[in-house]
Amino acid sequence: MRSRVLLLGPYGQLGHDVRHVHAQSGEPFDLVPIPRETLDLAAAGSIDRLLGSLRFDALVNCAAYTQVDLAEVDATGAFAVNTHAVQAMARVCDAKRARLLHISSDYVFGGDAARQRPLREDDPAAPVNVYGASKAMGERRARLEADDVVILRTASLFGVAGTGGKGDNVVETMIRTAQEKETLRVVDDQRMSPTATVDVARVAVRMLKDGCAPGTYHVVNADSATWFEFACEIVRRAGLAADVTPCASEEYPVRAPRPRYSVLDNAKVSAAFGAMPAWQEALERYLRTTQRLVR
Ligand SMILES: NC(=O)c1ccc[n+]([C@@H]2O[C@H](COP(=O)([O-])OP(=O)(O)OC[C@H]3O[C@@H](n4cnc5c(N)ncnc54)[C@H](OP(=O)(O)O)[C@@H]3O)[C@@H](O)[C@H]2O)c1
Repeated sequence: MRSRVLLLGPYGQLGHDVRHVHAQSGEPFDLVPIPRETLDLAAAGSIDRLLGSLRFDALVNCAAYTQVDLAEVDATGAFAVNTHAVQAMARVCDAKRARLLHISSDYVFGGDAARQRPLREDDPAAPVNVYGASKAMGERRARLEADDVVILRTASLFGVAGTGGKGDNVVETMIRTAQEKETLRVVDDQRMSPTATVDVARVAVRMLKDGCAPGTYHVVNADSATWFEFACEIVRRAGLAADVTPCASEEYPVRAPRPRYSVLDNAKVSAAFGAMPAWQEALERYLRTTQRLVR
C-alpha cells in the first residue's frame, strides 16, 4: 500500500514548497493537505478528533503561530499552536505508529550572548522570546510523547509563496523598501542562516521518501549572514540603487527580542542527504524564479 502523509500548514510559505517539491519528485507518496479550515490547531480537542479518525503513516507539521512580535502579548495563543497542539499531534502519531516530522526554529536558541560558533542539534535550547520558548517547548513535548519524531529546525525563511502564503517575506520586504527609499538601515548585530523554503522542502520530502533516523536535524542553507549582509546581497543582485547602511538592534525597536546569534550547523543533514546549497546561491535562484535577478 502507498504511504500516506498528512501535511499541516499546506498553504504557508514552507508548506507550499513541500507540496511543490512532492509534485516535482513524481509524488513518491500520497500527500494529503490539511488546512486550517479543516483543522484549527488552536481549538482544544480538535487534533484528537480529526487526526484520530484518519489513516496515515506520517504527519508533517508546517503549521505554526509565526507572529514573533505578537506572541509577546499573546503567549496563550503561541503556546496553544506551537506547544500544546504539537504535543497532541505526537500523541496521536504514537498511537498510530506514524512518524511526526515537525518543523522548528533557530529561535529556540539565542540566550547564549557569547555564542560565535554554529549551533549543533544537541546544544541546549535557550530562547530569548515567547515564540522561541513556545517552539522549544513544542519540541520537548513531542519527544516526550512519541519515539518516532523528526524535528527539523530551520531559519530565516524565504520562499515564493511568502509568509502565510500571502506573497510577502523578508526578501520582498527588503526589495520593496529599497524601491521606496534611498537608504536602507538594516541591523548588523544579528547573525543567522538565511534559508530558501524550497531547499528545506527538498530535505523534508527526501526524509519521507528515503527515511532517516528519528531525532533533530538543522536544515538551513550553508554560510551565515547578518541581516545587513543579507540586505546588501538582495539589493545588489536585484540591481536596486538604494544605499544599505548597518545599524544596531537598539535603533530598530521591536516588541520581541531577537537572538544575536542563531546560526545553525547543518553538518548532520548534509552528511545524510548531501551538502546544502549556500544561501547566496539560494537567493540567486529565488530572484531568478521571481524574475528580479539582474546580477
Ligand atoms: N518564517 C521563518 O523565517 C521561519 C524561521 C524558522 C522556523 N520557521 C518555522 O517554519 C515553519 C513554517 O513557517 P512558514 O514561514 O511557512 O510560516 P507561515 O507562512 O506563517 O505558515 C504557517 C502556516 O500555519 C498555519 N496556521 C497558523 N495557525 C494555525 C492554526 N491555528 N490552525 C491551523 N493552521 C494554522 C497557517 O495557516 P493560515 O494560512 O490559515 O494562516 C499557515 O499555513 C513553522 O514551524 C515556523 O515556526 C519559520
